[in-house]
Amino acid sequence: MKLLVTGGLGFIGSNFIIKLLKENENFEIINVDAGFAGSNTDNVTEVQNLKNYQFVQGNITNKILMEKLITKSDAVINFAAETFVDKSIKDANPFLVSNIRGAFTLLDIVTKQKKRMIQISTDEIFGSLNTGSADEQSKFNPSNPYAATKAAAELLVNSYCKTFDSDIIITRCTNNYGPRQFAEKLIPKTIILAYQDKKIPIYGKGANVRDWIFVDDHCNAILDVLQNGDSGDSYNISANNEISNLQVVKTILKVLNKSEDLIEFVEDRPGHDFRYSLNSSKISKKLGWSVKAGFEDSIKKTIQWYLNNPDIFGNTSSITSDFTPWKNSNK
Ligand SMILES: NC(=O)c1ccc[n+]([C@@H]2O[C@H](COP(=O)([O-])OP(=O)(O)OC[C@H]3O[C@@H](n4cnc5c(N)ncnc54)[C@H](O)[C@@H]3O)[C@@H](O)[C@H]2O)c1
Repeated sequence: MKLLVTGGLGFIGSNFIIKLLKENENFEIINVDAGFAGSNTDNVTEVQNLKNYQFVQGNITNKILMEKLITKSDAVINFAAETFVDKSIKDANPFLVSNIRGAFTLLDIVTKQKKRMIQISTDEIFGSLNTGSADEQSKFNPSNPYAATKAAAELLVNSYCKTFDSDIIITRCTNNYGPRQFAEKLIPKTIILAYQDKKIPIYGKGANVRDWIFVDDHCNAILDVLQNGDSGDSYNISANNEISNLQVVKTILKVLNKSEDLIEFVEDRPGHDFRYSLNSSKISKKLGWSVKAGFEDSIKKTIQWYLNNPDIFGNTSSITSDFTPWKNSNK
């Protein structure tokens, strides 16, 4: 099977590519990435010389390039997106371009070429839930510009599936952790700063709850959906592992044997959702997917990976300088 993977220089895309090519010889992958925020060419060094892997520098909004690449592929997995919520508060425009226009460009082409596409979405489209968990029928209620653009892409996918019978499937996952994540996100940021004995900023009181899933489990779910998912359907993916941000940071400090005095509570970001939670019983029942990784072991593996790869994540200037990037906006 020939796959076009978009955004494969980023966190989840690169883990997906490496896992697939290591575990399965039957796949050929073209990775198209624009090299925007979150990307890192070092993320794919392990596979860059394989003959069933090709990298193309390009933007998913480039219709001519996407038509050419999709013609060569059996299916598309669309990971490409602007993903940093804080930056979407400062300037939402790049999020509209990549997450809506980009997704639209792809879904229009796969529809014409009758190819399968998996649109990688997020639990954030359901907004904050004080209790209970969102299932696939729950109402969209995004709180920040990033989440709104991801929800908009989902609506376009749904409209195409209803109008043109497109072979597109949506997956929505909770917060991922693992190797190769951009240093500005909570877990790598905490590991890197703690290791260097620098202060670790936490928004508000750190009470916000996320359901953390190891990136490998997410990648397995995407592969199951690609191979056995129903056209036009959507699948929630979660690990039932809800932890507050403060607890995540304390866990990392404990593993690294560092003092909790490094924690510094900083001003909360506007519109910060308190809790996300997904019910993923549908993918378990219909496709037999289940979580394999336990948090305790996998967070240790993740920490070790960052410690072993200082060259990839050595530059910490962006994570130490600006804890409230939205304040530089003119709103
Ligand atoms: N990280 C999470 O916890 C999480 C959870 C649920 C869903 N998701 C979704 O998974 C996908 C991947 O997330 P991630 O954390 O790996 O993101 P990331 O920021 O690490 O990587 C995104 C990649 O997309 C590329 N990109 C952005 N716009 C592009 C464009 N217009 N054309 C080509 N490439 C472009 C970037 O260069 C980058 O390499 C996103 O769609 C995100 O919404 C992420």
